Amino acid sequence: SARNFSTSKQKPQNNLHNFFPPVKNNYKVAVCGASGGIGQPLSLLLKINPLVTELSLYDIVHTPGVAADLSHIETIAKVKGYNGPENLVTALRNADVIIIPAGVPRKPGMTRDDLFNTNAGIVRDLAKAAAEAAPKALIGIITNPVNSAVPIACEVLKKAGKLDPKRVFGISTLDIVRANTFVAEAKGLNPKDVNVPVIGGHSGVTIIPLISRATPSVSFPADQLKALTTRIQEAGTEVVKAKAGAGSATLSMAYAGARFANSLLRALNGEANVIEPAYVISDVTEAPYFSTPLVLGKNGIEKNLGLGTLNDFEQELLKAAIPELKKNIEAGVKFANQ
Ligand code: NAD
Ligand code: LMR
Repeated sequence: SARNFSTSKQKPQNNLHNFFPPVKNNYKVAVCGASGGIGQPLSLLLKINPLVTELSLYDIVHTPGVAADLSHIETIAKVKGYNGPENLVTALRNADVIIIPAGVPRKPGMTRDDLFNTNAGIVRDLAKAAAEAAPKALIGIITNPVNSAVPIACEVLKKAGKLDPKRVFGISTLDIVRANTFVAEAKGLNPKDVNVPVIGGHSGVTIIPLISRATPSVSFPADQLKALTTRIQEAGTEVVKAKAGAGSATLSMAYAGARFANSLLRALNGEANVIEPAYVISDVTEAPYFSTPLVLGKNGIEKNLGLGTLNDFEQELLKAAIPELKKNIEAGVKFANQ
């Protein structure tokens, strides 16, 4: 069975190799946008996570089928499908974790910002329902543009009197997953042993890989470092181009979303030192939302580990990111309050 994937010798880490810790508790996880390109494989990975005892699948289409299909898998999680807005509040009721991959993806030639008009309203409505149905949930937002979507959700929660800044996360894990993979490739390492912090936001220049702080320590000539940094920043576009109109990253995002959800669940379950970067309300820089490594706990963010030391190259990346981030954040705040 799937349990055979675990080996007791592995050190705790955030990736899926650590998917099978001893189970102490029961958690309800809701996925909003569960029938989509990300939603389906993400829900599959959550169904095989033994920390999940209830898996609530919400979408505006196809959830009965997705739920029936996943419900036959021989794991403990009870799967329920909820279709359409009239069932949204029930789907989210008392969820411990809500993961949101609802909304349209890019096509070639589009920026993530081009998705704002369609996706902003989707995130607003889901956040409104979360405020009503699960005010204590840890909420992870995948929907693009993430830089604006998280401020929208936070403003909506604030208006409902339910905002806890420690509980709302923009999921930037895919940037870390990619950085780990690309650095491992370049240095002939096993990706599971590589950890590259990536901070900032989740689009183009706002993605700031901190390769100087990679473990194990690696170094590159300046031109290679620049090319690697650009590749990490543009990796989403690499997939959009390769899919040629059929959407953006779905499978690698499902992996990244499952890794992030698993980190939240491990932290809820009392595991110490679960560290995962995410895009959150922040006073680390001038931008009121920013992604840095976070220590996660039972109430969400236990400690923001901040920027740490940046080298000159990384300082320049930060300088380029801040104005773009601030603009994206303002657009989200404005939308939520109009
Ligand atoms: P998709 O079109 O395959 O799936 C989206 C799903 O959302 C569909 O099933 C759709 O029915 C559903 N949906 C639409 N409106 C909804 C609503 N109001 N409530 C609930 N569900 C609703 O798209 P995808 O490829 O799964 O991508 C989803 C989003 O994730 C996109 O915005 C994409 O840009 C974003 N994304 C983010 C990252 C990241 O790193 N954060 C990575 C990849 C994709
Ligand atoms: C990604 O980074 O793959 C996602 O944000 C999807 C996209 O539009 O690039």
